[in-house]
Amino acid sequence: MSNTQDYVQWFRGAAPYIKAHRKKTFVIMVSDEVIYSDRFIGLVHDIALLNHLGIKLVILHGSRNSIDKHLADNQLESKFHNNIRITDSDTLPYVVHAINEVKTYFEAQLSTGLPNTPMSGSEISLIGGNFVIGMPLGVIDGVDMQHSGKVRAIKHEAIDELLALNHVVLLSNLGYSRTGEVFNLPTEDLASEVARSLKADKLIFIRQERADADSTASTLSTSQCKSMLADSATPDDLRNLLQQAILAIQAQVKRVHIIDQQVDGGLLLELFTRDGYGIMVTNLFYEGSRTASIDDIGGILSLIEPLEASGVLVVRSREQMELEIRYFQVVEKDGMIIGCIACIPDKDESIAEIACLAVHDDYQRAGLGNQLLQSAEMQALKHGITQLYTLTTRTSHWFIEHGFSENRDFALPSAKRDSYNPERGSKILTKSI
Ligand SMILES: CC(C)(COP(=O)(O)OP(=O)(O)OC[C@H]1O[C@@H](n2cnc3c(N)ncnc32)[C@H](O)[C@@H]1OP(=O)(O)O)[C@@H](O)C(=O)NCCC(=O)NCCS
Repeated sequence: MSNTQDYVQWFRGAAPYIKAHRKKTFVIMVSDEVIYSDRFIGLVHDIALLNHLGIKLVILHGSRNSIDKHLADNQLESKFHNNIRITDSDTLPYVVHAINEVKTYFEAQLSTGLPNTPMSGSEISLIGGNFVIGMPLGVIDGVDMQHSGKVRAIKHEAIDELLALNHVVLLSNLGYSRTGEVFNLPTEDLASEVARSLKADKLIFIRQERADADSTASTLSTSQCKSMLADSATPDDLRNLLQQAILAIQAQVKRVHIIDQQVDGGLLLELFTRDGYGIMVTNLFYEGSRTASIDDIGGILSLIEPLEASGVLVVRSREQMELEIRYFQVVEKDGMIIGCIACIPDKDESIAEIACLAVHDDYQRAGLGNQLLQSAEMQALKHGITQLYTLTTRTSHWFIEHGFSENRDFALPSAKRDSYNPERGSKILTKSI
């Protein structure tokens, strides 16, 4: 395909996202490592672009590294308890100074950086203010956290009014108490609190590339995040972001994105391409699928009959369907079943068959098949299943792209062997979960 055609295809592909994001509220936290990196100017341009596409933006800047540096430069020790900085009276002025320095640099780049970018000629109106009310963290395990605080309230109505006027709201990780004290707040927690109070559509964390980063885009549900939190191999910085993501999703933020700034334009790839770029946390697709009931059998049959007729799916009798209906997940739209999948456990309870996966023609290629498989896997995990297998004649590549691999040595469970028709020549694929 020519470059021109690539460009046209790309632009058409981005169009639904441009439409979907318009007038939506995004809360974006940018770490100070990214702010002082070579990639920042590209990010400034992308933030300006989002603003011009009609997206309401609240931006928070991190300052952790800048604070460490300021304290070290002034021979002051960075003290932590439970991974939280202890901001005492001696270090507070340096902490405030470091935070303000990052903020000023950020503001300057968003104001003066644009002439040298493709967004030249555009202006962003940035507004900051006393939108965050803080309170002391208090004494934790006998340690007085002093000026390290937490969020008491966010003046979200004031922020909403500014966003409605197309201003970009810029927040630092400082909170002011009603008694006039200043508190240093963890920016990730603050970003999540702001997103929750605004009921934002997206909360986005942009952080510096990690040496151990996995570059494949992925979608996680909050339960998968919880499993990752239970895994001691999950790094501390990711752990904190996953915790904030769970809180945000539970408070109705629709999606949380964690983007490692490995390439120029990572934010745009995540927001405007179907494959995305970073980690996306959402539970939305699970709202779409539900466990089937006996009343769904008619709908499932009308979805799968054409596939049975063409030999893509094995024919299932109504009686068999009735016996297995509790293992089906379905997606319903306007009263019609548009997708289904079955995850049928074997007598040996650690194995289950993925069967009867189908998405209505009109709804294919929108990620529904992927979502159904993910929700079947979630169900399987819940029931202690550790291995999935599937038999397929024409969809092996789709399954391979979703983590399955061909397994010629796999011994089918005995119950399945009895009903297996070798003449179909199905491939056996397995996946450990
Ligand atoms: C397989 C199926 C469930 C995927 O549903 P979906 O909602 O379109 O899935 P997703 O949107 O998650 O994935 C779509 C991608 O899979 C690809 N795909 C679809 N069928 C495929 C197949 N048989 N082999 C390889 N890739 C396939 C699509 O081309 C698309 O790729 P793209 O990103 O390049 O456009 C759907 O195509 C279907 O119902 N097929 C007929 C029934 C079937 O084959 N069931 C499996 C029986 S074992």
